Amino acid sequence: MKLALCYTIVSVENKMLLDSAKKRGVEMERLVDGEALLAITDKGKKEYDAILQRSVSYSRSQALTYYFEKQGTLMMNSYDAARVCGDKMLTSIELAAAGVPTPKTYVALTPETARQAAGKLGFPLVMKPTTGSWARMVHKINDKDALDAALESREEMGSPSQKVYYLQEHIDKPGRDLRAFVVGNEVIAAIYRHSTEKSGWITNTGRGGTASKCEVTPELREISLKAVSFLDEGIYGVDLMESASGLVVHEVNHTTEFRNSSPVTGVDIGDKMIEYFIARAKR
Ligand SMILES: Nc1ncnc2c1ncn2[C@@H]1O[C@H](COP(=O)(O)OP(=O)(O)O)[C@@H](O)[C@H]1O
Ligand SMILES: [Mg+2]
Repeated sequence: MKLALCYTIVSVENKMLLDSAKKRGVEMERLVDGEALLAITDKGKKEYDAILQRSVSYSRSQALTYYFEKQGTLMMNSYDAARVCGDKMLTSIELAAAGVPTPKTYVALTPETARQAAGKLGFPLVMKPTTGSWARMVHKINDKDALDAALESREEMGSPSQKVYYLQEHIDKPGRDLRAFVVGNEVIAAIYRHSTEKSGWITNTGRGGTASKCEVTPELREISLKAVSFLDEGIYGVDLMESASGLVVHEVNHTTEFRNSSPVTGVDIGDKMIEYFIARAKR
């Protein structure tokens, strides 16, 4: 069986995954997304049986995942799943359709309709790019002036995709939110992510938020599994917030980071991912 780890750079996580596989007696090939050449018209046979896709570039990940899936390679996660997870608008559409509690969200395609959405949501609200991570360009907008400024900046300087206005109700979270790790049909661990002086109102650990262990309660398990129910079985990080009416899911990540989560949860998250990936490849 030929297995590979596809990545952009050798991050701490990717090193952990390669080491875990080795410990399990599996040598995974390294597939660096930036070095790949898609020989689309060459006639060849399947190059890999399964690829764990950890590329952090949405466009590279999509290209490679589609290409290899067409060859019959098991891609984890699948093209369809990554497409939905990589786009917050599609994720919100799926979450709402599946009946998963999620913050009130509108997508507007012009500044005028974005202002209408703000009228429905009230201030403060959160405006996000539909693609991206590490909370880049995720903005809390406190009033009409701030909204106007943000809209004008995007209209004048933004790329076409930045002119898709994703506006969401601001959840007044208790200085923390949750991340649940879903591997196959199991929620293997969860963390709280706390906001700090450095991270401000956001909680991403890559932005200075800190992690602590969160118990996987039946409620958390149920909502997290529901949040991946519309995706092909795989490996996901579900982002949740505690709202006044209970847990709400705002994002599902398809290449979730876990370096800060394993030590605080006591669960070797990378190893669980590898164990599951190898088992699926064999199936
Ligand atoms: N509607 C919201 N209300 C309050 N905080 C939010 C809201 N949406 C996002 N956040 C905060 O911003 C962070 C980044 O938002 P998220 O949607 O997860 O984007 P990213 O893909 O960049 O991680 C979240 O971890 C959370 O702390
Ligand atoms: Mg997030």
